[in-house]
Amino acid sequence: MAQQGNFKSPSRMGGLGEGAPLSSSGAVQAGKPREQGLKGVDFERRSFLGKVVGGVGAVVAVSTLYPIVKYIVPPPVKEAAIVSELIVGKASEVPENSGKIYQFNKDKVLVVNDNGKLTACSAVCTHLGCLVHWEDKDNLIFCPCHGAKYKQTGEIISGPQPLPLAPFNVRVEGENLIISKA
Ligand code: FES
Repeated sequence: MAQQGNFKSPSRMGGLGEGAPLSSSGAVQAGKPREQGLKGVDFERRSFLGKVVGGVGAVVAVSTLYPIVKYIVPPPVKEAAIVSELIVGKASEVPENSGKIYQFNKDKVLVVNDNGKLTACSAVCTHLGCLVHWEDKDNLIFCPCHGAKYKQTGEIISGPQPLPLAPFNVRVEGENLIISKA
């Protein structure tokens, strides 16, 4: 009597998995085809789940790390434009017989008012880079680090410094004190 219903042809077995072995009589070996077919399905499911978990993990990692990295890494600093002259303050800030240091581009500039005569020169000692200041009682620019002495205009008087102080121009317009390149 012909078998009906459960008979599985070799071509149909291919859908469940490769190489469903047949016995010498042509019968399917019990259990193997289904087991091998499920292994393939299981592998694909694991692979898919692995990708989903990996993707979710990547999104969580990025959303967690981004604010931390943004907090740690400082924003880029915009370089101030180099100018040829600049209003650095009010003329009243440097009264007679005094000196004051101003920032001009990347330089520190000492403006001296000696009895109404305004001069400006670099405030950085040419010996080892200390800041100089105006000594009104001695009428000179003095470096407190190793005793370098300069004239009001920056020329060397005495001390270990190899070079004079670089000169700058200074003028008053209205109330404004303006420094420019020499
Ligand atoms: S740094 Fe000015 S004298 Fe040495």
